[in-house]
Amino acid sequence: MNYKMHLTPEEEDILNGGKGETMAKVMKTLVMYGDAFGATKMVPVTSKMGHLVTSFGLGVMQPVYDLMDQLIAGGAVSSQKFSVDPKPLDPNVPSSFLKNIVFKKFMYNMQDSYDAQLAKLGLVDSKSYTCTCYMDEVGNIPNKGDVLSWAESSAVVYANSVLGARCNRNSGIIELFGSIIGRVPYFGLVTDEGRKATWIVEVKTTKKPEAQILGSAIGKGLDKWIGTELDGDAKAYLKDFGAATASNGAVGLYHIDGLTPEAVEQGESLIAEGAKVYVIDDAELDRVKNNYPVMWKDKNATPKLCFVGCPHLSYDQLVEWTENVSEALKKNGRSKVSIPTVFTAAPAVVEKFNATPNAAKLKATGVVLSYICPLMYMNNPLAGKMPVITNSNKLRTYTTSRYYTSAEILDIITKEAK
Ligand code: F3S
Repeated sequence: MNYKMHLTPEEEDILNGGKGETMAKVMKTLVMYGDAFGATKMVPVTSKMGHLVTSFGLGVMQPVYDLMDQLIAGGAVSSQKFSVDPKPLDPNVPSSFLKNIVFKKFMYNMQDSYDAQLAKLGLVDSKSYTCTCYMDEVGNIPNKGDVLSWAESSAVVYANSVLGARCNRNSGIIELFGSIIGRVPYFGLVTDEGRKATWIVEVKTTKKPEAQILGSAIGKGLDKWIGTELDGDAKAYLKDFGAATASNGAVGLYHIDGLTPEAVEQGESLIAEGAKVYVIDDAELDRVKNNYPVMWKDKNATPKLCFVGCPHLSYDQLVEWTENVSEALKKNGRSKVSIPTVFTAAPAVVEKFNATPNAAKLKATGVVLSYICPLMYMNNPLAGKMPVITNSNKLRTYTTSRYYTSAEILDIITKEAK
């Protein structure tokens, strides 16, 4: 094949079939991908683990399953163990008889066989289904400077920005191919130049902005609200903030003055020449929030379901939500939430939480704790018609769910349903 980027003799050998026909096809795909984006060469993937975005066994994705079979048969399995995005189904999550039939028989009827393929390709274990693979409890935490082959947008922006690792906003399957070959094309966010800030966002709000609304903003002024230490609170804030930047604005990297690793290290030299300035104040945040469309057929409908935890909640967030819901219910003279509510977190976080007294406390409020991806749950015509509320900007962007701030959600679920 003709290609523009420079390949080492070893890479060329793989491309020419030195490691078999299947590996050659995988390499060819990566070279075409790199050439399309002007990559100059391939660089080794240096993270200990990979992460896959495609976690759901949708019946209509037969070509993916055929491809996975070919990879397994050709010995082209991942060179690194990987975690994967959350599962779409959990029997504990409220559902209707009809929806269960649609889920099991028509939509996710390939889930079991796909899970088996993932295990053969290099999935760490059955608890590794989460988009927040970088949580301590899960353990897929890249080091600063590591080159990754990931695709999940909320995890990519977190790894790039909070951890200082290097990863492009790849698509599903391409990220698996990078993990199989152990190399990725060198372009974009993997390069020094591609990591420079092309926008300066000045945050001039009068209070700490809601992470999920600020989502399209990056940078200066934020240190006033989240400090200069990357502690648990700051990381949880940046997790939610980054997921919103990625889903609302295709942002794969941000730096925060005095806080994120590359900004601390390189200061203003990280700002690209000619970077533009965007000022965020209270009025701008209100404007952004008020412009979110309400996709419900009946805009005054009583919510039928509430999701909190997209991206998955951290352990500390889960404890805080449990505390807040319990307190608010007590204050409102109620014992259970008025809207069926689901909190979602990584299986390892759920397991840790369930071993504490907080598990009984949360259960008493009527909130269900699950490991699913709310987006996968909602992506079907039946759930799509339901009035669902969420504090996730990503879920709002990709589904018909309606966005409320965390404080508003707490208020809605702990008061009498209207
Ligand atoms: Fe995670 Fe699913 Fe939301 S993958 S970020 S819970 S859409």
